[in-house]
Amino acid sequence: MKVLGFMASPRKGGNSDILLDRFLDGSRAAGAQTEKINIYELTIQYCQGCYLSCWVNDKACPQWQDDMDRVHEKMIQSDLLVFSSPVYVGTPPAKLLAFFERSIDQKMVNLQSLKVEKNNLSGKKAVVLQVNFFNDSAYQKLPLSVYERILGEIFKMEIIGTMGVAGVREPGDILKKEEALQSAFNLGISACGLLNKSR
Ligand SMILES: Cc1cc2nc3c(=O)[nH]c(=O)nc-3n(C[C@H](O)[C@H](O)[C@H](O)COP(=O)(O)O)c2cc1C
Repeated sequence: MKVLGFMASPRKGGNSDILLDRFLDGSRAAGAQTEKINIYELTIQYCQGCYLSCWVNDKACPQWQDDMDRVHEKMIQSDLLVFSSPVYVGTPPAKLLAFFERSIDQKMVNLQSLKVEKNNLSGKKAVVLQVNFFNDSAYQKLPLSVYERILGEIFKMEIIGTMGVAGVREPGDILKKEEALQSAFNLGISACGLLNKSR
C-alpha cells in the first residue's frame, strides 16, 4: 500500500508540512509505504493552453519536459494521494493549482462526443488536509469545494477524508494543537484501513 503525500506550502516545516507528516506517520503505523513530495520544490511550468494536443491523445504535455511526468507516474503507482495545503486568499495556493492544470494531460477526451476515453487518475483515493488562520469556516469551505471539483469531478478521484485546522498562522503554530495532530495521525490510520478493505 503506497501513500503519496503532496506538501503544497512554500514554507517547509510549516503547518501544512507538520500536519502531513502526522498523517503519514499514521499511514506508516497502519503498514503503508509513504513518500512526500514538496510541490514548491518541483519545476512546474504553466499550462500554455494549447490543450488540444494533450487532451486528444494519451501523450504527456508536448510543451514542457519538467517534473510533471515523473510525478504523474508516482501518482498512478500510488494507492492514496494526500494533499496538504494552506488557504491562500480563500483558495488552494497557486502552485498547486498550476500542478492540477498540468495534470489535465492525464485525461484523454474525444472532443466530438465529449466522451472521456482515458483518465489515468480515475478511482484514485485522495485525502485533503488544510490549514488556515482565520476562524471563519468560510475560509476552508471554498478551497475544499475547489478540491472537490478538481479531484472528485474532473479527475474522478474518490475523496475518502478531509481535515482542516484553523487558527494557525506562523510556522509551527499547529504544534500547539496536539488534538488536531492526533486526529491527522488517526486519519492516516483509518484512511489506510479503508484502502485495505477496498483492495
Ligand atoms: C498570501 C497568503 C494568503 C493567505 N490567505 C488566507 C486566507 O484567505 N484565509 C486564512 O484563513 N488564512 C490565510 N492565510 C494564512 C495561512 O493560511 C496560514 O498562515 C497557514 O498557517 C500557512 O500554512 P503553512 O505554515 O503550511 O505555510 C494566508 C497566508 C498567506 C501568506
